[in-house]
Amino acid sequence: MTAEKIDGKAFAASLRETVGRYAAEFERKANRKAGLAVVLVGEDPASQVYVRSKGKSTVEAGMNSFEFRMDADTPEQALLDKIDSLNRDDAVDGILVQLPLPKHMDEAKVIATINPDKDVDGFHVINAGRLAVGQEGFVPCTPLGCLMLLEDRLGDLSGKEAVVIGRSNIVGKPMAQLLTDANATVTIAHSRTKDLPGVVRRADIVVAAVGRPEMVKGDWLKPGAVVIDVGINRIEGEGGKGKLVGDVDYQEAMQVASAVTPVPGGVGPMTIAVLLRNTLVAAYRQEGIALDKDAL
Ligand code: GUN
Repeated sequence: MTAEKIDGKAFAASLRETVGRYAAEFERKANRKAGLAVVLVGEDPASQVYVRSKGKSTVEAGMNSFEFRMDADTPEQALLDKIDSLNRDDAVDGILVQLPLPKHMDEAKVIATINPDKDVDGFHVINAGRLAVGQEGFVPCTPLGCLMLLEDRLGDLSGKEAVVIGRSNIVGKPMAQLLTDANATVTIAHSRTKDLPGVVRRADIVVAAVGRPEMVKGDWLKPGAVVIDVGINRIEGEGGKGKLVGDVDYQEAMQVASAVTPVPGGVGPMTIAVLLRNTLVAAYRQEGIALDKDAL
C-alpha cells in the first residue's frame, strides 16, 4: 500500500486565497486594510528569508505589511519600546517578533510585552492560558495548521487515538490541547517516554515535532495512520548537498500509513497561511466586526 501525500502547499494556497477574500471584505467594512508588523533583530539568514516571505504573502493577501529591522546589538529596551509603539498603533492588528532573538535579549520578556490581542503567533502566556481553558485567543500557527490538515483529511477526530511526539510550548503542547478539544484521545510523548515505538503504534494520528531527522520509522506506525511531520532538519545529502528531511522516515511511512505530510511541502507552507489567518481574525476583533465562526 502506498499512502496519500498530504499536499500542505495546495491547502495553504487555498487558505491564503480565502484569507484574501475576507481581507477585501474587511477593507470594505473597516475602511482600512488589516496590518501585520514583523520585527527582525539581527541578520540570521534563515530569519531573513522567513521575514521576507511573510511580508510578501501578507501583501498578496491584501493586507499591509510593516517590517522593522534592528541591529543585532540593539539594546533590549529599544525593542520593548518598538513593541509598545506597535501595541498603540491602530493600523497594526498583528505583531510578530521573529525568533530567535540575540542572546542578550530575554525572549519571554519580549513576548510578554506584546499586546495579547495582537499576538498572532499565540506565544504570549495569556494566549497559552486562553487555549488551556478554552477561551478565545490566538493559537500558535504551526499546530493550528496541523489541525486543519488533519480535519481536512479525517473530518471528525472524535475518539481517535493521537500521539504527539514533542512537548514544546510552540508545537507539542498546543497541538495536544487542540486535539483534546477536538475530542481525540491524546498522548504526549517525549525524550523520556518508554517504548516510544510501542506508544506511537497505538496512534490513528501521529504528529512528530522533535527535531530528530527521520526518527519515526515505518514499523512504528499503525497501518492506516495519518502522519503529520512538523520536523525540518537539514542533513547531508548526495554529493555533499544539504537535504531537508522531517522527523519521519517518509519513504517507510508511505508504505504503512494512509496519509503523510512531505517535507518540504507539508506543514511548512501552512504556518505562514495560518499567520495571515490569525492576523485577519485579529483585525476583525480589533474593529468589533463580526466574522462567521467557520469562515477561516
Ligand atoms: N522563528 C521560526 N518560526 C517562527 C514563528 O513561527 N514565529 C516567530 N515569531 N519566530 C519564528
